[in-house]
Amino acid sequence: MAILGIESSCDETAVAVYDGARGLLSHVLHSQVALHAQYGGVVPELASRDHVRRIVPLTRQALAQAGVELADIEAIAYTAGPGLIGALMVGGAVAAGLALAENRPLVPVHHMEGHLLAPMLEERRPEFPFLALLVSGGHTLLVAVAGVGRYEILGESLDDAVGEAFDKTAKLLGLPYPGGPALAALAQRGRPGRYEFPRPMTDRPGLDFSFSGLKTAVLTALPAQPSEQDKADLARGFEEAVVETLAVKCGRALDATGARGLVVAGGVGANKRLRAELDALARRRGVGLYFPRGEFCTDNAAMIAYVGWVRRGEARPAVGAIEARARWPLTELQPPKGS
Ligand code: KG4
Ligand code: ZN
Repeated sequence: MAILGIESSCDETAVAVYDGARGLLSHVLHSQVALHAQYGGVVPELASRDHVRRIVPLTRQALAQAGVELADIEAIAYTAGPGLIGALMVGGAVAAGLALAENRPLVPVHHMEGHLLAPMLEERRPEFPFLALLVSGGHTLLVAVAGVGRYEILGESLDDAVGEAFDKTAKLLGLPYPGGPALAALAQRGRPGRYEFPRPMTDRPGLDFSFSGLKTAVLTALPAQPSEQDKADLARGFEEAVVETLAVKCGRALDATGARGLVVAGGVGANKRLRAELDALARRRGVGLYFPRGEFCTDNAAMIAYVGWVRRGEARPAVGAIEARARWPLTELQPPKGS
């Protein structure tokens, strides 16, 4: 069964084809990074308009690369939320249009469930139950995953998401958007130990996070006329504080749940220092660590097509209003129908 997946929740337009028997057949993506860079962040209206421009050619490309025709597609999955509402509507409208034209059903997909299940696209897959650390531009979640659609939130950020903290701190250091990868690159040249920033909320029990104070700590430490080395040292100190904080909470959550597997997903999951630290943690505890490949950590349609396949039992006719939700708690999801 071949599923077309469409992702347009933020600043990446992506389309993929996933087949139940043959696996991922294609995935293509257009990043709007260059478009938004001059504004220092995503401009929602520009994002929507660019999705409109890109989505049809990308769909053709994904089908061609998969070697399938639209008529071979059995259901169309699209990101229905959470995300920018205008951007979501573009993907939803295209998905609904194709579904109506081809008389195929639609599967609305939760973007964060896509991130959460992205490691299932890899050869080495985690087994349920596992613990998941979801770290993206909009979310910081520790989730106990008993199975698909069986999610318990153990901890979350009370203020900035980790990716957001990376992006805001990068801005303070004068780095270009998107700040996360730029800050991580700068931190490589930073010296350890020069700046010791707090590890927020690790000194008390619990699994919640708070990252907004860290960016203030960096701002306070920032010299009036910082040299390149000062900035690199600050980036290093910030990255180490974030990574250690995440690792401490993952360790606690592993203790609390007894989980034997740890999944790390979402854009910040591409961070090398985080990967190394969690790898060390997992080795010490003898638990399995699972990451999607780098390009499936950040937004992509492969994960959406995959969830579409997992939830194909919930496919429904493309009638009525397009489903798109700016906010959509992960815990509202249920196990897939027919499982
Ligand atoms: O999952 P994602 O692509 O989009 C959302 O759904 O939010 O995550 C994007 C976030 C951004 O905040 C970006 O700065 C951050 O992930 N990010 C990184 C790295 N690569 C992406 N943060 C730290 N280190 C990285 N290497
Ligand atoms: Zn995302």
